[in-house]
Amino acid sequence: MKNLKRMLCIFLTTALLAGMCIGAVSAFAAKEKPKTVTICSRTEPKYDNSWYKDLTVYQIWCRSFKDSDGDGIGDLEGVYQELDYLKDLGVDCIWFSPIYPSPQKDYGYDIADYYGINPEYGTMETFEKVMKGAHDRGMKVVMDLVINHTSDQHQWFQESRKSKDNPYHDWYFWRDPKNGSYPNNWDSLFEGKAWKYDENLGQYYLHVFAEGQPDLNMDNPEVRNEVKKIMRYWLDKGVDGFREDVISYISKDPGLPDGIPLPAATGIEHYDKGPNLDSYLKEFKQDVYNNYNMFTVGEMPQSKPADALTYGCGKRLDMLISFDQMTADGIVTDYVHVPFSLVRYKRAWRDWQTQLYGKGWNCLYIENHDHARVISRYGSEHYWKESGKTLATSYLMLTGTPFIYQGQEIGMLNTHFNSLDECKDVVTFNNEKTFAKVGVTGQRYLDLVNKTSREHARTPVQWDDSKNAGFTTGTPWFGVNPNYKTINVAAEQKDPDSILNYYKKALKVRKAYPALSKGSYKEYYPASEKIYCYEKDYGDQKALVICSFSKQDIPFVAPTGFDLSKGTLVLQNYPDAPAGSRSCTLRPYECRVYIYNG
Ligand code: GLC
Repeated sequence: MKNLKRMLCIFLTTALLAGMCIGAVSAFAAKEKPKTVTICSRTEPKYDNSWYKDLTVYQIWCRSFKDSDGDGIGDLEGVYQELDYLKDLGVDCIWFSPIYPSPQKDYGYDIADYYGINPEYGTMETFEKVMKGAHDRGMKVVMDLVINHTSDQHQWFQESRKSKDNPYHDWYFWRDPKNGSYPNNWDSLFEGKAWKYDENLGQYYLHVFAEGQPDLNMDNPEVRNEVKKIMRYWLDKGVDGFREDVISYISKDPGLPDGIPLPAATGIEHYDKGPNLDSYLKEFKQDVYNNYNMFTVGEMPQSKPADALTYGCGKRLDMLISFDQMTADGIVTDYVHVPFSLVRYKRAWRDWQTQLYGKGWNCLYIENHDHARVISRYGSEHYWKESGKTLATSYLMLTGTPFIYQGQEIGMLNTHFNSLDECKDVVTFNNEKTFAKVGVTGQRYLDLVNKTSREHARTPVQWDDSKNAGFTTGTPWFGVNPNYKTINVAAEQKDPDSILNYYKKALKVRKAYPALSKGSYKEYYPASEKIYCYEKDYGDQKALVICSFSKQDIPFVAPTGFDLSKGTLVLQNYPDAPAGSRSCTLRPYECRVYIYNG
């Protein structure tokens, strides 16, 4: 059975040439490796950082947030101007996607200097001003830390390519050609094969992501010491934690052996949760995190709840970013698109909610810079407002720390590209080549980009209905979504029924009722493709969360023990909520949250 499943999986990936995005393929390639996991640390944390469980985190992808100087590129001064907006929204923490100097081949996820600020975004003084402004308003600040790879423009890499005896040579994976070709058969997740030849050295370097993102050799203790130095530098400056990029990839199998052939992701089983991941994370925790009042959230693309119990839960990192709930309309990756399945969406949440309860803590999100806009994916653009609110409700009432991505709170939608010339992302261009191999070209590929690409998350935030949506007075670096005349912050601030005002209310409601923010989870009707219904319990408080994902009216019967007429309706997305004691009709994308105090 296992073999059959595996063969089916391999067939599917081969047929679809899935690969590409990070969510790629790994589940198929997952290899059981013996792991030594030491649970207790030698040193204990100096601080109780459990405050991170009460935060709502807002992710800023600075380039598209707000431009203050008219160069068409979002910047830190723009963030500073909107701190009150964020405070008013009800968020208590800002996570900055990378804002370090970078050639922007992967929009900051290719760092050229870990100790600076990208001049396009401002200076270190501007950053410090923003951080102080956030702290003054009671908001924390978290930096994105990309340590799996650097930019090829980083000085360490420039040194490393000078000669084989350069002290930085071993900071990266340089290998001699094998039989006149690549050192192994690994694919890059972002750009062709995982190896790039350097004429000068006569060697290849490893890049699991784009060519401009060479992988750091974390096995070298000097690299780990430098990583710890970078962490301390930002913590000493006053930041409150890190979001750690593809942290599960930092340890590679010794000898870099060939991988099981898989289109576009060959080799992934040799670096996903590699042999030294646990010991490196433990080292960072003991030598750095334990000495600061901070928290960590680590991106682990293929992680399951069991991984969170090993690497998260405060043992190594505090929370993990899983991709499970983000593939309810894709096979392994967003690009291999299938219709949205509510059952798959619910299963992802159920697994994490139940398996971590009382043991760990969840990171809750439905959007970030790596995925198309969620209403366009999982909701309905026709029922924009209703489905935007139902989607918000579906995840904001779960137990964990909620994350909101810029523009999500106003219900930003996917944009439309008339040609690939309007696109910006290295992944879009790599996938073009990958999909061409299976005959998906021209308009068909463009349709796929319009549906699934992460380009959509990166269009400028729509602030008002003035030119360029109030994002810039200059020429925006990336096309503003033409729907900004109706979907924008200013309009939604004025409309009491807007998605924006709903987010504000939902965050308040969540904080007011511990059953919602901290409760245990019990799901009803798990096989329904139309209704998401769960109960949350904390002490003698109960909550019943009901979300319709249907475009039609549908009948709803409350689970046994719940009387709708006796609950307090604390959140809803229609002006009224008629109900009998056990039943009601749910209108398109209707959602309701009832509270019962024992
Ligand atoms: C992470 C980031 C993504 C980036 C990749 C490579 O998944 O979220 O944006 O492209 O890592 O750094």
